[in-house]
Amino acid sequence: IANIVRIWGKYWMIFLEGLWNTFWIALVAIAVGTIFGTLIALVRMSKRKGISSIAAIYIEIIRGTPMLLQFYLFWLGLPYLFPTISNLACALVALCVNSSAYVAETIRAGIQAVDPGQREAALSLGLTESNIMKKVILPQAVKNILPALGNEFVVMIKETALASVFFVGELMTAFKTVQSNTFLALEPLIIVGLIYLFITLTLSNIMKVFERRMKAND
Ligand code: ARG
Repeated sequence: IANIVRIWGKYWMIFLEGLWNTFWIALVAIAVGTIFGTLIALVRMSKRKGISSIAAIYIEIIRGTPMLLQFYLFWLGLPYLFPTISNLACALVALCVNSSAYVAETIRAGIQAVDPGQREAALSLGLTESNIMKKVILPQAVKNILPALGNEFVVMIKETALASVFFVGELMTAFKTVQSNTFLALEPLIIVGLIYLFITLTLSNIMKVFERRMKAND
C-alpha cells in the first residue's frame, strides 16, 4: 500500500495522461465504428445477395480473428501505404475497423428485433417502405441499439489495453512506463486496474440512468 501511494504521488501525471488517451482513443473508435458499422449493417441487410455477402464476409473476418492480430496486421500493413504513419494511428485504424464489424451486427440485430407485426401494421396503413423504416422501425430499433452501443464503448475502453503492445500511450502503456521507471510491477498494475474500473463503472452507471429514462418514455 505504501508503495502504491508513493508511486501514485510521483507518477499520477503519467496515469492521468494514460487515462485521457484511453478515453479519447476508445471514443474515436466507437464514433468511427458507429458510422461505418451503420453503413455495413445497411449493406448487410441489402436484398441483393452479392452485396450483402460482401458485408457478411467482412464481419465474419473481423469477428473471427483476435483483436491483437488485427493490431499487428494494420501495424505491419499500413506503413506500406503511409511510410510515416505512427503506431497510434495504426492502432486507431485497427480499433475503428474492429468496432465497425461489431457495431454492424449490433445495429442489424437491433433492427431485426423489432416485431415484424409493426411492419405489417404500417404496410396495412399504406405507409411506404422508406417511411416504415424511418417512422416505425428505426425509432423502436434505437432503443435496442443505444444500450448496446454503450456496452461497445466499455468494450473498446478495455480493448485499447491491447494496443499497449505498441506503446501508444494509453493506460496500459502508462503501467509499462511506470514499471520500467520504478522496477515495481504489481503496484502500478493495481493503480491502472483501479482506473479502468473507475471508467467502466462510471460508464455503466451513466448507461443505467439513461436506460431507465428510455424505459420511462415507453
Ligand atoms: N477481445 C476480443 C477479441 O480479441 C473481443 C473484441 C471485441 N471487440 C468489439 N469491438 N466488441 O477478438
